[in-house]
Amino acid sequence: MSEASRNEGAWWESAVIYEIALISFQDSDGDGKGDLAGLTSRIDYLKWLGVDAVWLTPVYKSPFRDLGYDISDYCSIDRAFGSLEAFDRLLKALHAADIRVILDLVPNHTANDHAWFIESSSSRNSAKADWYIWADAAENGGPPNNWLSRFGGSGWEWCEARRQYYYHSFLVEQPDLNWRNPQLRAAIADVMRFWLDRGVDGFRVDASAVLIKDALLRDNPHNPQAKGKPPPQRQTPVFTDDRPETMDCIEFIREVIDGYPGRMLCGEVQGKTDRIGHFYGNDRPRLHLPLNFALLDSQWDALSLQATIDAYFNAIPDHAWPVWVIGGHDKQRIASQIGEPQMRVLAMLLMTLRGTPFFFMGDEIGRKRVPIPPDRVHDPFEKLVPGYGLCRDPERAPMRWDDSSNGGFTTGDPWLPLEPRDGAANVAAQQRDPRSILALFRALMRLRRERACLRHGGYEPLRAQNDVLAYRRTDGGKEILVALNIAAEPRKLHWQGRGRLLMSTHLDLPSEPLPDASILLRGNEGVIIELEPR
Ligand code: GLC
Ligand code: MG
Repeated sequence: MSEASRNEGAWWESAVIYEIALISFQDSDGDGKGDLAGLTSRIDYLKWLGVDAVWLTPVYKSPFRDLGYDISDYCSIDRAFGSLEAFDRLLKALHAADIRVILDLVPNHTANDHAWFIESSSSRNSAKADWYIWADAAENGGPPNNWLSRFGGSGWEWCEARRQYYYHSFLVEQPDLNWRNPQLRAAIADVMRFWLDRGVDGFRVDASAVLIKDALLRDNPHNPQAKGKPPPQRQTPVFTDDRPETMDCIEFIREVIDGYPGRMLCGEVQGKTDRIGHFYGNDRPRLHLPLNFALLDSQWDALSLQATIDAYFNAIPDHAWPVWVIGGHDKQRIASQIGEPQMRVLAMLLMTLRGTPFFFMGDEIGRKRVPIPPDRVHDPFEKLVPGYGLCRDPERAPMRWDDSSNGGFTTGDPWLPLEPRDGAANVAAQQRDPRSILALFRALMRLRRERACLRHGGYEPLRAQNDVLAYRRTDGGKEILVALNIAAEPRKLHWQGRGRLLMSTHLDLPSEPLPDASILLRGNEGVIIELEPR
């Protein structure tokens, strides 16, 4: 399947994208919450690290019940974060550092104190009466159907002023917008243009798969695999999630962004790997980069990983550019699951697979889940659906820049606690250590920049054997072999032809020609080997 060298494609095909939860990155004013000025002061770090773009979780005015995914005004910055001027300064400074900026676009719902909802909920005759999803009560006066909120309980909430229910996929305070309404669509397009005109490089579309719900409000069926699942997952959400009509909304959003050359649309999509291909679109394009979390869901062994990677490549269309994500504000830290030694292997996997890598702030220091005492829990998911380990605060804890008690994040009280300082991963210590996982992330990104083959080359799997996951990247005559030892014990690896070692995850071997066509991989070691043309 060796493929001819392709020209450098769009910037997002070569970029490494770094997700930042702004509230936890760097505080500048001592209020315990990260802010725009704090992030601006850390641009040197981002530049040093070598990421090409940052995606910021919502920065807009919000009551912050759901990490800012409850938006009160799409076109203003929350006071805790700064101002539009501070945003413009940040954007300019990031662009000056050659770092692109992706904002979160949350088109599915607003906060209930958004002016649109206040108007819509005031009366059935208001100008925005149809901007949200309203329905009459069932005959018994109860909710219109059995749909559940993902955050627990019925998805319907009664509104006395209209004597109707409104639907909320998430919190009661996050009413769902009505994407069947052309005025609403136009209003979201205006929001996008507001930020695109300011110069942002694209959006990550939140909850893109749920924009349209069934017009007949048909009840969702019982989930046959409900046993042991949290209550919101005890139905199969066929009439609320991933409706075919939703694709038209994504195409609409894409058309808006296509009015601005060089801007990118990535997005949260739901469902299994076999659904992900649809989100690229065919005749009408949809997302440039539907986020793919398959590596996080995979079992951590060579055979499972080779199957996961294969299934994903097979599930996306030929024209699609792949995406790999290893962390995010909704996902449990993978370092807690696989441990630091394998986290290094994952870093090499992420940076050498064909596709755009995404990682979440803190992944680069191998950060683990931060224990959150019950009285400090913020996440509404945990409060409303307790007992299922759904709390997302452990990944959202403030960044640990150094080993001081507040980690260099704030001079005040951090909005969420940091982990105890002793032995905790922190940026400063790892910057001093040339073999830290941070140094590894940085070295891998540098290698990606240097080798077009790693960015754009074809992907050719080798047979995973003996706990070693291996593949080649090929670009014209160039070939790079990547071999990852998923076991903690040494494993022998053979190949054909002469090779030169480019990097070991241990960062302790010189880049030099290898005497034999084989190498003894140490436990938890991954290597990148350049093969001489045969
Ligand atoms: C998306 C966000 C998540 C949020 C939800 C509701 O899934 O990633 O953090 O809770 O939307 O807004
Ligand atoms: Mg602050």
